[in-house]
Amino acid sequence: MSRQKRVAVTGVAGFVGSNLAKRLLDRGYSVIGVDNLSAGTLENVDGRVEFHEADIRAPEIYPLFQKTDAVFHLAAKTCLPECVNNPLEAASVNVLGTMNVLEAARRANVRKLIYADTSAEYEGINEFPTNEEKIRPIGVYAVSKHGGAAFCESYRELHAMNVTVLRYFNVYGPAQDWRRVIPPVMSSFIIRMLQRELPVIYGTGKKRRDFVYVDDVNEFHLVALEDQRTNGRIFNIGSGINFSVNEIYRLVEELLGSGLQPIYKPDLPGEAEITLADITSAKSLGWKPRIEIKDGLKRTIEYLQNKVLKANVSLPGV
Ligand SMILES: NC(=O)c1ccc[n+]([C@@H]2O[C@H](COP(=O)([O-])OP(=O)(O)OC[C@H]3O[C@@H](n4cnc5c(N)ncnc54)[C@H](O)[C@@H]3O)[C@@H](O)[C@H]2O)c1
Repeated sequence: MSRQKRVAVTGVAGFVGSNLAKRLLDRGYSVIGVDNLSAGTLENVDGRVEFHEADIRAPEIYPLFQKTDAVFHLAAKTCLPECVNNPLEAASVNVLGTMNVLEAARRANVRKLIYADTSAEYEGINEFPTNEEKIRPIGVYAVSKHGGAAFCESYRELHAMNVTVLRYFNVYGPAQDWRRVIPPVMSSFIIRMLQRELPVIYGTGKKRRDFVYVDDVNEFHLVALEDQRTNGRIFNIGSGINFSVNEIYRLVEELLGSGLQPIYKPDLPGEAEITLADITSAKSLGWKPRIEIKDGLKRTIEYLQNKVLKANVSLPGV
């Protein structure tokens, strides 16, 4: 009998990693997860995951990847203001940490690695929808993620590792980190409105974002893992549609009927005006995003109502 396939997920206690682990387990893989719990929480981690609390920069991760068929590398410093305030730490985790994960994978003879890259790679590109061809990362987060991607490319060339790079746009859904000082826009609106507080919009609210629901991202994770045609390639993972922050407010308000008007605060620096993914490459492999924004928002509201509000936790001050 062939053994059950074993997949490692770094950043397994975070938003995307915890959702990915569940999807892999449901698909029949065994999952080993690594996270130092600097941003993620144990509560997010499915009980079936073989969990290791470890830093991706430490040599302790080397033995963990033995007999592993593939690695999803998601662990990263993801909070933009934290990256700006502590650029050395961001570079250390996102560049050197990625290097160490690649090295651990090479030493354990792992043949496949999937790297979680970001649409922030397109910060300086003003062509919409944006395809995978040109990048221009500018900010600390974007450049540090680019550094990690460059090492992935190097390991692909030097060690014939099957690397697939996924450039996620704005992923949303259950388990998104709502504890941040400035939480992702949807979670922030939903929690504040449920708590009868005014939602906060930074800037004019006209910035447009390509939002993609986490289950749709997971469907492409499976394609990246199982379809050999993804080896050595880069894919945008978005929905191919964008919404302004003001539109997101209106959609959430339609669902909640809170009657609360947003308050506008000064813009946050370093954020792109528009993101919009050209998803032609990912679609050419038979994948397409299926969850419409209203449906995704409904599911996110349900999660936040059950997990966050029932636990009587309040949103950090904004
Ligand atoms: N969520 C999005 O919209 C989005 C968009 C583009 C790219 N990405 C990328 O996807 C990946 C996952 O993002 P997310 O939204 O789930 O972020 P997240 O912050 O929720 O998860 C990241 C996880 O990595 C862990 N981590 C951080 N430093 C670590 C270290 N040194 N050692 C071990 N673990 C460490 C954190 O504890 C956290 O659980 C990241 O690589 C991010 O850059 C996410």
